[in-house]
Amino acid sequence: MSKHFETEAIRNQTERSQFSEHSTPLYLTSSFVFDDAEDMRASFAEEKEKNLYSRFSNPNTTEFVDKIVAMEGAEAGYVFATGMSAIFSTFGALLNAGDHIVSCRSVFGSTHTLFTKYLPKWNIETSYFKVNEVSKVESLIQPNTKILYAESPTNPAVDILDLEVLGRLAKKHNLLLVIDNCFATPYLQNPIKFGADIVIHSATKLIDGQGRVLGGVAVGKADLIQEIYLFSRNTGPAMSPFNAWVLSKSLETLAVRVDKHCENALKVALFLENHKHVNWVKYPFLKSHPQYKIAKKQMKLGGNIVAFEIKGGVTAGKNFLNAIKMCSLSANLGDTRTIVTHPASTTHSKLSDSDRLEVSITDGLVRVSVGLEHIEDIIEDLNQALSLK
Ligand SMILES: Cc1ncc(COP(=O)(O)O)c(C=O)c1O
Repeated sequence: MSKHFETEAIRNQTERSQFSEHSTPLYLTSSFVFDDAEDMRASFAEEKEKNLYSRFSNPNTTEFVDKIVAMEGAEAGYVFATGMSAIFSTFGALLNAGDHIVSCRSVFGSTHTLFTKYLPKWNIETSYFKVNEVSKVESLIQPNTKILYAESPTNPAVDILDLEVLGRLAKKHNLLLVIDNCFATPYLQNPIKFGADIVIHSATKLIDGQGRVLGGVAVGKADLIQEIYLFSRNTGPAMSPFNAWVLSKSLETLAVRVDKHCENALKVALFLENHKHVNWVKYPFLKSHPQYKIAKKQMKLGGNIVAFEIKGGVTAGKNFLNAIKMCSLSANLGDTRTIVTHPASTTHSKLSDSDRLEVSITDGLVRVSVGLEHIEDIIEDLNQALSLK
């Protein structure tokens, strides 16, 4: 990035129109016009860099992706309707039938479903390693392994994977390293520095930051992004110009918002650490986090997600949710509003006990997406709900 992160997030802007607007307008158009037959021919032949159709590109999606490319230190990128379409299109573009993936087991639920239900349709199999078993990765690599995949921090248990180690392994075995950087945002962590080839975001989370729109991003090496772009241009998971406009505005405040989210989250983690109804707390920047040193090495701050285990298992978890007054019970995260979830009774209730434990979800695990309300109000709500649990 040429300037500071904050400056780039604000000043990296679509060229002004003849109306000299200060803030980028919304280009709500499905297609673009050409001057004459030659202009149209040359544009379709890609001899000119011109917007043709908003499934391919649009000034708003271009502004948004250009910012993320700069923030992540990538060469190129493409933006999608959702985080899941970014993940699926990356696999669709980069994998061939019969390829193999090595992935951390602690991945977002729908990503796990892609690995276990949909990719096998094309004879693409996945071998898993647990968060604390990075040393086993080499033993899982096969001659047809193409992608090494991980999230860090993980959802919902905020475990940390050592990106430097994964980067080294990918390089040694000539694999593509794909990292879902959703929990960290480009402000807190840049996986490309550690050797990632592709970085993915669900922009629905902290990038939007206000729970309004869905979005996804894939950035990375130009030749790989070109494959992802062509796949997406033809299969159609494009981000709408409206969402790109909202998300590009959100990036202008990403640094200040995420700084405050992290400050609040650390205070919540410290409060929970001393609470008599709590067995343990996991937050990347708490010294007690099992991968604290790795988190410190690769992240600027600890993020906004705190996981803790309430005493009393599933019943206590449900009672805690029922006693919450101000925080929201919602599936999203990374919102201005603090959100609490209890995975064992909701998102992960269909998994067996042993499958849940494989992804570090214990019966009493609660995930808090710490928002931007006043810290005293957040802590007061958690405290009264814990006391009633
Ligand atoms: C880590 C992670 N990756 C991907 C996704 C999917 O994103 P989306 O809901 O935008 O499709 C999520 C959503 O919660 C997530 O937490």
